[in-house]
Amino acid sequence: MASSLFKSVLPFIIFFFILAIAGGKPHGFSRVLSPAALGLKKEKLSHFRVYWHDVVSGSNPSAVQVAAAPTTNTSATLFGTVFVIDDALTEGPELSSKLVGRAQGFYTLSSQSEVGLLMAMNFAFMEGKYNGSTITILGRNAVFTKVREMPVIGGSGLFRFARGYVQARTHTFNPKTGDATVEYNIYVLHY
Ligand SMILES: *[C@@H]1O[C@H](CO)[C@@H](O)[C@H](O)[C@H]1NC(C)=O
Ligand SMILES: *[C@@H]1O[C@H](CO)[C@@H](O)[C@H](O)[C@H]1NC(C)=O
Repeated sequence: MASSLFKSVLPFIIFFFILAIAGGKPHGFSRVLSPAALGLKKEKLSHFRVYWHDVVSGSNPSAVQVAAAPTTNTSATLFGTVFVIDDALTEGPELSSKLVGRAQGFYTLSSQSEVGLLMAMNFAFMEGKYNGSTITILGRNAVFTKVREMPVIGGSGLFRFARGYVQARTHTFNPKTGDATVEYNIYVLHY
């Protein structure tokens, strides 16, 4: 008796077990894909070194202040300021060296106790096979710290599914003009 009851419910048990391991009911708007279906092979680690040029002075700045808090001018850390950037990324430390891309986005001065930025920017590459591909960086940049680490949170083109981190080191900073050149080492896992 018990065994025939078990036999009759067994197909349902199997059905719900399969449903559970398949992640629930199928939907019209979603499906499970194998990475191979998108042509994704082995994930690899790439390292890039570029120089980021933040030019705030002169008649053609690549970093412009777009906002500030009413109290910003009384803050020693410029807390509350927002800059939009379209900074050159070059192969060497000189601005005149080969342009490999641009850093586009914004940074905000978001610390009350030190000069600390929240950076949100895309590194839009323009060179060789990377032309048109981007890496997205979002992180905290305490600019007077020797090495600042920020996460790579994604990317496009050759950097689809990207994850990783950057290390930023100030190469030159002119306190008179505010212009800065920063060395960025990017470590990124992508396909
Ligand atoms: C700060 O800016 C406000 C508004 O622009 C101005 O009224 C105020 O005098 C400034 N304070 C200082 C200390 O410069
Ligand atoms: C990068 O791509 C753009 C748009 O397709 C093209 O106009 C440009 O010449 C390319 N640059 C390089 C260095 O290949």
